[in-house]
Formats: sequence, structure tokens, C-alpha cells
Amino acid sequence: MGQNAPHNPLDRLPPAREKVETIEILRQANKSTAALAELKGIAKTIPNQAMLINAVVLQEAKDSSEIENIITTQDEIYKALTVNKTKISSETKEVVNYRKAIFHGFDFVKRQGFLRVNDIVSIQQELVDNTAGIRSTPGTVLKNDKTGEIVYTPPQDRPEILDLLSDFINHFNQNDQELSPLINLAILHYQFESIHPFYDGNGRTGRILNILYLMLNGLIDVPILYLSSYIIENKSEYYRLLNKTNRTGEWGEWIIFMLKAVENTSKKTIEKISKIKNLLELTIDKVQTESPKIYKKELVELLFEQPYSKIDFVVHKLNVERKAASRYLQELENIGIVVSQKVGRETLYINKDLIEILKQ
Ligand SMILES: Nc1ncnc2c1ncn2[C@@H]1O[C@H](COP(=O)(O)OP(=O)(O)O)[C@@H](O)[C@H]1O
Ligand SMILES: [Mg+2]
Repeated sequence: MGQNAPHNPLDRLPPAREKVETIEILRQANKSTAALAELKGIAKTIPNQAMLINAVVLQEAKDSSEIENIITTQDEIYKALTVNKTKISSETKEVVNYRKAIFHGFDFVKRQGFLRVNDIVSIQQELVDNTAGIRSTPGTVLKNDKTGEIVYTPPQDRPEILDLLSDFINHFNQNDQELSPLINLAILHYQFESIHPFYDGNGRTGRILNILYLMLNGLIDVPILYLSSYIIENKSEYYRLLNKTNRTGEWGEWIIFMLKAVENTSKKTIEKISKIKNLLELTIDKVQTESPKIYKKELVELLFEQPYSKIDFVVHKLNVERKAASRYLQELENIGIVVSQKVGRETLYINKDLIEILKQ
């Protein structure tokens, strides 16, 4: 079908079962569910959950923003988070906001056990740092980056947008459905992106909703599964299939795409966790044997919670004086655990090996 084929008005949820439960989809859903269940189990074995969550959320903030061509480096983000008053690019600022928006979303999930449309608005607000909210002025269309051609026109009228959003949130909160929650995840993500309720930030907000949905349905306890790295690797497919679903009303390929994203990222995250655990053990071992005098479990854990560390962090975590904190970090550098770098007046101590694992 050509680029200018007419768009179909959005249907309310859910789609007909036979369209979203083909044998191929059910087979893939089984594989994806198994991979995610394995991840859920392994995540429990990590001794310090905050450590894992911080690192993974930051990586996701970076990746999800990258899908929207907001490109920055891990190095710059960590510096922005660690050094007060440092100059940061607008891209880095957006990623830092994205990270805040994710944590904001977790709060709703933990406090309420469900989401309201207003909560989604609040998450998006945190992300884009303005209060424009749900679209009220027509004119928002989705264009092809390269050709500028209009590929999709979302609903334009505010009442229609609100109506579709309320239908969306009802479906989102319903966790007694017979349909596999992972199939639902795919349906919900398509629906949210197609409603496209905001002027900007729809893609990123929608991807935050994905992890919140998994948590609300108990498929994962801690927020560590993110599909963005997979979407980056398969970005044109992601766009093509969102589009195809709307033009043809066929769900199959899109659902398979999302299910594979879950399987693939679950497996990758399992690998990552196992590498982080190994590194943590190695690091503990090294400090214990090479600098037994300064060894404290909390000190090593800090280097994993804050891969870019500084004297202040040590002071707070270990409740020691600056002089001692500084000496600990120096010693850790001497034995090759961290690498120091001066940024402005601050000295950062970077857990390089961990950063390498997180980047993969
Ligand atoms: N044809 C389409 N139908 C529905 N949604 C689409 C389509 N093409 C792209 N999208 C979604 O729109 C998002 C981009 O919208 P945008 O509001 O700019 O979000 P962000 O600012 O987070 O990039 C993409 O990430 C994708 O999820
Ligand atoms: Mg955008």
C-alpha cells in the first residue's frame, strides 16, 4: 500500500481474539513468558537491588531517548548526575528528565497498584518539562524522517482523544484477562502510540508505560526489563509495523515483534546481571586481598550503585570524614578498581569495568 493510503480510525480495545491469538503468536508468547520469568527469578538473587535498578534505568533513559534521535553519552549523563552545576547539553537534560519520569511512574505503581490517565499526563510532563498536556489543538501528524511524507494521522479532536485514552487505561488496569499479558502489552503499546495523546514525548511515555504494565501484572518485581535497545536495533521495523497495523488491521507481525523484543531483552538482561554479579564478587575479593584495611561491603556496593562516585557519596554511605573517604577512593584507584577523572572542581572515581558491562 502506498504512503498516502488513508488511515483507519482507531478501534477501541480489545481487538478480536482470533486476530491476536494465532498459533504463531501463542508459541512466541510462551517463549517470551519463559524468558521473562527466568529474568524475574534471577533479579531476586541480586543482593543489592538498588544497584541494579539505578544502572539499568539510566541505560534505558539513554536508549529510549536515542530512538527519538536524542543522542548523548553515558559519560555525560553520569557527570550530569554526579557533579553539581556542571554544564550539560539539552540532550543530556532530556535523558535526565526521562530517568526522573521513569521513577515517577514507579511511584504511582507502588502507591496505587493501578494508573490513571492523569498519572500518564504527569509522567509525560516530567519527561518533556512543560505543561502542555493532552493535545487540544489539531495539527499533530507523524512524518517520515527522511521524506517528510505524512505516514500517520492520529485522532485530532480532544474529546475523541480523551475517550480513547479512557478506554486505553481501563484495558491497561484490567489484570484478570484471559489473554496473555505479553500479548496485551503489544496491543496496549500500539494503541497508546496510535492515540498519540501528546504533542511530544509519546514514544518515550509509551515505553515507560510498558515497564509499568509488566510490574502491575507481576511479571517482574523490579523495573529492569526495557525494550528500547531492541527497538533501536530494529527501528525501521518498529515504525513499519506500527504503521502496518493501522493500515491493515492485522496485528500478527506487530505482536510477534513485541514478543520477540521481550524474549531478546530478557535474555540480554539475564546475561548482564550475571556479569554484574561476577564483577561484584571479583571486586570484593580484590579489595579484601589487596587492601584489607579499607575493605567494607558498603564501600564496594557504592561503586556499583554509583558507577561514577565521589568523596561526598562515600562520606554519606559510610558515615566517615572527608579525609578518610578520599583515602579510600585513592586506594581503590591504586589497586585498579576505579579510575579518577577531574571534572571542574570535582574528582570522580569511575568503575570502568561496570560501565563497560552496562554499555553492552
Ligand atoms: N505509524 C505510527 N503509528 C503509531 N505510532 C507511531 C507510528 N510511527 C511512530 N510512532 C510512535 O511515535 C513515537 C514518536 O512520537 P513522539 O511524540 O515524537 O515521541 P517522543 O518525543 O518520545 O519521540 C515513536 O517512538 C513511535 O512509538
Ligand atoms: Mg519527539
